[in-house]
Order: sequence, then C-alpha cells, then structure tokens
Amino acid sequence: MRLLTALTTCLSLVFAAAVSKRAPTPGQLSQVTGVGPTRAGFYIYVPRALAASPGIVVAVHYCTGTGQAYFQNSPYRQLAEQYGFIAIYPSSPHSGTCWDVSSRQTLTHEGGGDSNTIANMVKWTINEYRADAEKVFVTGTSSGAMMTNVLAGTYPDVFKAGIAYSGVPAGCFMSQSSGVAAWNNSCANGQVTATPQIWAQVVFDMYPNYNGTRPRMQIYHGSADGTLRPQNYQETMKQWAGVFGYDYNKPQETRSNDPQSGYTRTIYGPSVQGIYANGVGHSVNVRGQDDMKFFGFAA
Ligand SMILES: *[C@@H]1O[C@H](CO)[C@@H](O)[C@H](O)[C@H]1NC(C)=O
Ligand SMILES: *[C@@H]1O[C@H](CO)[C@@H](O)[C@H](O)[C@H]1NC(C)=O
Repeated sequence: MRLLTALTTCLSLVFAAAVSKRAPTPGQLSQVTGVGPTRAGFYIYVPRALAASPGIVVAVHYCTGTGQAYFQNSPYRQLAEQYGFIAIYPSSPHSGTCWDVSSRQTLTHEGGGDSNTIANMVKWTINEYRADAEKVFVTGTSSGAMMTNVLAGTYPDVFKAGIAYSGVPAGCFMSQSSGVAAWNNSCANGQVTATPQIWAQVVFDMYPNYNGTRPRMQIYHGSADGTLRPQNYQETMKQWAGVFGYDYNKPQETRSNDPQSGYTRTIYGPSVQGIYANGVGHSVNVRGQDDMKFFGFAA
C-alpha cells in the first residue's frame, strides 16, 4: 500500500513535470513566451474538450484592456469549450494598451509590427496543436476591432473570417510619422472618408501581389458611438465591399430588427455584412453564439 502510494506520488510528479514543460494547460489561460517580433503578450486558452484538428479564434482586447481582461469579459472561453477551438488572447505591449494600428510596420504583411506578432501566435498554435488552418478567425472590440480589420488586410492568407465590434477601417489610423500605436483623431471623429476603391486599395497595399482568398467580414457599430464616430461604420463597409468587388451602393439585402430589435443587418454579398446598432454607443455587446455561426462552428 505504502509502495503504491509512493509510486503514485512519483508518477504524478513525473507527469506534472511533463505537463509544466508544455506551456499551455488545458482549461486554464496560459502564457506562451518567445513569440515576436513585438513584445505583445501571448495568452492562450486550450479547452479541456479540444476538438481533433481544432479551429482557432483570436480575440483582441480594447484600449486599457489586456489579454486576461478580454478572456474574463468575452464569451470565447465558454464557446471554446462548447466548440473545441483554441482561443488566443493577445495583450498589447503599449502604454495605454491600445493596439498598434498606425505604424507602417503593423500595416504591412510581415512588416514587424503587432499584426505580425499576432499572425505568428496563430502559426505557433497551428504547429503545436495541428490546428486546422482553414478554421482560423479573428474578432475584437474597439482597438481590437481596428486590429481585426488590420489583420484581415495584412494576413488574408491566415484568417478566414473576421468580426469587428466598433472599430475603424484598416489603415484609417495610419500615422503620418509612422508612430507606433498612435491615436488618430481625424479617423476616430469620422472625418477620414474615401471611396470604396480607395479604401480597398489601402487593404491591397498591405500585402502587394496577394492573389488568394480573403477573410469574410462582419462589422458591428453603434449609431451613438461617441468614441469612434459612426461614420467609421460606413467607411469600413465601403472598404470590405470594395475589396470583394461588391457595389457598396447596392447591398444585396437589408434586414431591419436583425439580429435583434433596433439593429439593422446589411448584406453586401456572401463575404461582407454589417450590423448597425441603432441607439447603441461605443460598447456593442459581443454576440458570441452569432459569432460562432459566422465563423462556421455552429449551424
Ligand atoms: C490619420 O489618418 C489619416 C489616414 O486615415 C492620415 O491621412 C492622417 O495623416 C493621420 N493623422 C495623423 C496625425 O497622422
Ligand atoms: C498568385 O501568386 C503566387 C505567389 O506570388 C503565384 O505563384 C501564382 O502564380 C499567382 N496566381 C495567379 C493566378 O496569379
């Protein structure tokens, strides 16, 4: 009996050592170190109920937030358990913890900015867990929504779909002096407007000569947003409609009170839709189960 206890203790110590060597612990938010090139934190949630060949959802926090905070305040942890995907929560390294969506580096494919680091987190995860590269998605709120649009532009080869809650078009925060994580008042205030063609070109220029498929996009915005003015909704819709060659002025379908009362869903084509939340401010609630449908985890 005593021998058995000793043996069990010994075995569990060996087991614990083996487990701790591998950074992520299933069912727990874990940090992975050593993935760059920027110093963005890499937090990962591997569900206990990990699917075979799992998908990946990157969930990107708002300014003042952190990877841990978004893990707590968004529904992706429970959804990861329900659908078996791995959730990645990047954490901004910048003061004020906004994401860098302004520098030339971050607005360029493999340009050495935060977008590059987040794409590398995905590549690390695909490699480590043999995840399904066809099921890689990104979503985020506010600064995280800006980063969602930037990642869709800079890494169309990595992401299959994106959902942005209250952001701005990819490249709208572009800094004249290529400042890192710089705030851009004219964009935030909705004063940066352009044609669908010009906005699309901003995306094309992030990864010149890319000719593969691009992520499907779903864009949420509140009509009473005082932080990132609602004009940014129109500009973002122009951008993705332009990228996919849809006619921004002739959406396929507009549905009132969808997905809920007071919201309007506008479908530009199979790859682009917007959801405008009438009377809602900067905090548009994340609709986790709907996200699962858009990403294709749920029917
Ligand atoms: C803000 O972004 C726009 C592009 O969207 C750019 O033209 C402008 O120079 C930027 N402002 C600053 C202060 O960098
Ligand atoms: C797309 O780009 C790749 C890599 O640059 C190239 O090998 C391929 O021939 C291109 N395909 C088309 C249809 O242009």
